Amino acid sequence: MINKIGIIGGGNIGGVCVSEIVNRGLARNVALVDVKEPEFAAGKCLDVAEATPVYGRDVNVVGSKNYDILEGCDFVINTAGVPRAMRPDGTFPSREELLAINLKITDFVAAGIKKYCPDAFVISIANPLDAIVYRLFKKSGIKPHKIMGMAGVLDSARYKYFVAKEANVSVENIEAVVLGGHGDTMVPIRSACRIYGLPVEQFVTKSKLAKIEKRTRGAGGEVVKLLGSGSAFVSPAVSALEMIEAIAFDKRKIIPVAAYLQGEYGVKKLFVGVPAILGKNGIEEIIKVKLSPEEKKNLKVSINAVKKTCAEVDKTK
Ligand code: LAC
Repeated sequence: MINKIGIIGGGNIGGVCVSEIVNRGLARNVALVDVKEPEFAAGKCLDVAEATPVYGRDVNVVGSKNYDILEGCDFVINTAGVPRAMRPDGTFPSREELLAINLKITDFVAAGIKKYCPDAFVISIANPLDAIVYRLFKKSGIKPHKIMGMAGVLDSARYKYFVAKEANVSVENIEAVVLGGHGDTMVPIRSACRIYGLPVEQFVTKSKLAKIEKRTRGAGGEVVKLLGSGSAFVSPAVSALEMIEAIAFDKRKIIPVAAYLQGEYGVKKLFVGVPAILGKNGIEEIIKVKLSPEEKKNLKVSINAVKKTCAEVDKTK
């Protein structure tokens, strides 16, 4: 059992993280920070704490607007930031359009982590994902193997779900991976998609797969549009917990994560979604995927999009 997990940001994703950690009995202590209202995080946590007898879990759940409750955290999940939401005219922003506002919030998050739990593993979910985790890394001083963005688990899960529905087989039979940035340029890797170890094309036609891959790239936006008031939250939250479980239980599980690359996939000093072995040291190894020429080209486009957003980050102090 993990001793302590901290969650930063008490919105929908943060809320599901807290209740799901209790549900799984994943940690002895959970601390939620939210700076919005003086007692908001405390209230949110009291609600979950009062359900612990129902869950049958002895987990201490505390919330505060102050970062000092993060003291001693083994893991921190960063969800702090404004999510995408529908505008009155029915359109919604891209993740990249959230950069200016979420960057300011991220600097507070980084300072809090640096002060109270500089040795924690950090999983960042706030958007624009790849740029926010880049900033968090730069400002918090967390070692590269201990800080990562949660995107690939979610994007691959969406790809898997759509393939499973189309093929009319269990989601458990699907292997899939999505690489690149967590934006509309993300790259579902068809050549690595398998159903029961068999090539996906044996079950789903090429034209259906093209539709599925397009839907995967826009899947976050599809939920934003349907919800009308925010973005997906259950799937991002449980995806982050999958990463924590791989590290905490030293599973050495291969999971796609936004990792700090130092030459892999031709990328230097940026966070980009790639498969990695997650174990007790965090990111233990980056896995190379053999790509088709088309996938290579698309990954380059996605990496360039991440580069562009991170160049914006570098313009601000
Ligand atoms: C999504 C958000 C959380 O993809 O980035 O739904």
